[in-house]
Order: sequence, then C-alpha cells, then structure tokens
Amino acid sequence: MKKIVFSGVQPSGNLHLGNYIGAIRQWVKLQERENLELIFCIVDLHAITLPQDPKVLRQKNLELAALYLACGLDPSRSKIFIQSENPDHPYLAWIFDCITPFGWLKRMTQFKEKSEKQKEKASVGLFNYPALMAADILLYDTNLVPVGEDQVQHIELTRDIASRFNRLYGEVFVIPEALIEKKVARIMSLQDPLKKMSKSDPNPKSRIELLDDPDTIVLKIKRAVTDSGKEIVYDREKKPAISNLLSIYSELSGKSIDELERQYEGVGYAKFKEDLAEVIVEALRPIRERYFEFIKEKMFLEKVLDEGIEYAREKSSKKLARVKDLLGLSR
Ligand code: TYM
Repeated sequence: MKKIVFSGVQPSGNLHLGNYIGAIRQWVKLQERENLELIFCIVDLHAITLPQDPKVLRQKNLELAALYLACGLDPSRSKIFIQSENPDHPYLAWIFDCITPFGWLKRMTQFKEKSEKQKEKASVGLFNYPALMAADILLYDTNLVPVGEDQVQHIELTRDIASRFNRLYGEVFVIPEALIEKKVARIMSLQDPLKKMSKSDPNPKSRIELLDDPDTIVLKIKRAVTDSGKEIVYDREKKPAISNLLSIYSELSGKSIDELERQYEGVGYAKFKEDLAEVIVEALRPIRERYFEFIKEKMFLEKVLDEGIEYAREKSSKKLARVKDLLGLSR
C-alpha cells in the first residue's frame, strides 16, 4: 500500500528560503521514494484569511504553480492543484467547525500571533483556519504531512479532529503524522534570529525570496545580523544568528555543520557571508531560470492544474459523500 503525502503553501507574499528549505525541498526529495503518492496544494482559501488584492492573488496562484515546478516538483509524480477549485475542502471544514471545541482553536499559537494586532477585528476565518487545514489533509487519507515546525500544532489539532470524528461517527479518517526535517524546520529571520523567516515580515531584508536576483541576495546576506564574538560555530542558544546562517549554508551546500565550522576556523564573518551568499545564489539560480521558463508556459501550467484538480476531486468527493452520509446530511 502506498502512503499518501499531502502538503501546501499559501499563495500570499513571496516564497522564501524558509518555505523552500523547510518544506518544498523536502517534498521534492520525497519524489524519489517509490512507495508514496504525493499531493501538493496551493491553499488560496487560507490566504484570504488575511486581506488579499484579488488581482494579485489570481496571479500568485499561477506563480506558485510555476514555482512548485521550478523547485523540482514533477507533475508526472506529484499532483498539484488549487484549493479553491475543490469545494469539498470548505464543505468538510464547516463540518469540522461544528465538531471542534472552541477551546481547541483558541489555543493555536499561529492565531494568537496573526490576530495580535487586529484583536477583535481578526476574521472568523483566521480563527477557523486550522479546521480548513484539517479538511485539506483528511480528505485524502493522508499519512504524512511534510511541513516546517510552525505547522506542527496544526497537525496535532488535525489528528485530534480526526480522532474525535472517528469516535463520534465511525472510522472514516486516517490519522496523519507531521513529517519534519528537524535540522531545517525553522529557518530564522536574517534581521532577528529569534523570529522565524516569514512572508509577512514588513522588512524584506529579513528573508531571501526564491526569486531575488543575485545582487539582492548578496546585499541581504551582507546586512544579515550576526552575534557578538568572531567565531563561526553552531550554538542555537548563544549564537542564534550564525547558527541560522550555518544551517542555511549546510543545507544548500551539502556540507555538514562540522565541516563548515572547520572550514571557517579563524576566518572572519565577512568572508563567511561572502561564501554563503555565493552558495545561495548558485542554489537559487536554476530555480529562478526554470521559473521564468514555466511562467511563460501558461497552457502547460493550466494542464498541470487541471489534471491535479480532477485527481483531487475524484478522491475527495468519495470521502465527503461518506462523511455526509454518516452525519445524516442526505435524503
Ligand atoms: P505557509 O504558506 O505559511 O508555509 C509553507 C510551508 O513552509 C514552512 N515554513 C517554514 N519552514 C522553515 N522555516 C521557516 N521560517 C518557515 N516558514 C514557513 C511551513 O511550515 C509550511 O510547511 N498552514 C500552512 C499551509 C497549509 C497546509 C495545509 C500545509 C494549508 N493546508 C495542509 C500542510 C497541509 C501554511 O500557512 O503554510
């Protein structure tokens, strides 16, 4: 039996190294394992939990599809679709809203963070966000959800919702597991190494975006904050900024942290940063090049997304029909 893998990214803002190293790169690697069925979603219904410009969002959906392919997702191996094209997701999310205790959602740290500024004005959608995420995952009998660390709490909640539904109505949902690549599950901001790198950070210097040009990358790495002292050693507690840069360097170069520490013994930050910028530029160069090819191939992108949505609906409609039947939502 093949295991099913499901994950997604919001088409809000521009994708950055955290999204790539923490998530998409892991998805691409999973394609090498034969016993997996892979489904990747562009979660635009999640994106509208915060205000989005409709014109930009439409464009971002297509851009994200092109970026998925540019990063190495192969449509003959991975299904890719746009969440809002499958109404089964918000349908099941509503059902989950009705069986999920308010208190469970109130505990979600992402909601607390994202609603901090808006307080009572935060949308109900932002609050219910994790129920929609649970629907995304559970509609496809997902076994594994490859994500960065910030999503772990949402996956725990998904497991709780699935178990609760199964207990109340019968064994319908597979209980999924988060798949986390510990070393790189939390790439931090280049400006504040205690905060994660984020699309929504108002300071663009806090992140390297996947489509940044080489000069911008060099500049952002030059401006990245460092720690006191001169040594280039990995220590998350005492040297969070350098540790973060070492993680990025290690992941993109294939060199171990130990190897890098040895290589930079007695070498200053300036040289280290110069080399790191070079490593990032070279790692992102093929992605940028492929992206600009794919984004021109609108017909091809449409075909990939058409095939993806057909596949997704075929699967999810069966699951939703069973759920509706168990709840008495039928004649
Ligand atoms: P999103 O769009 O915020 O992020 C997409 C993926 O990137 C990971 N990530 C990071 N990893 C390491 N370091 C970082 N600084 C960093 N920032 C982001 C995220 O963990 C995520 O894996 N709720 C999800 C989208 C979603 C989803 C789903 C994911 C909706 N439905 C179903 C999996 C399954 C989100 O907002 O991701």
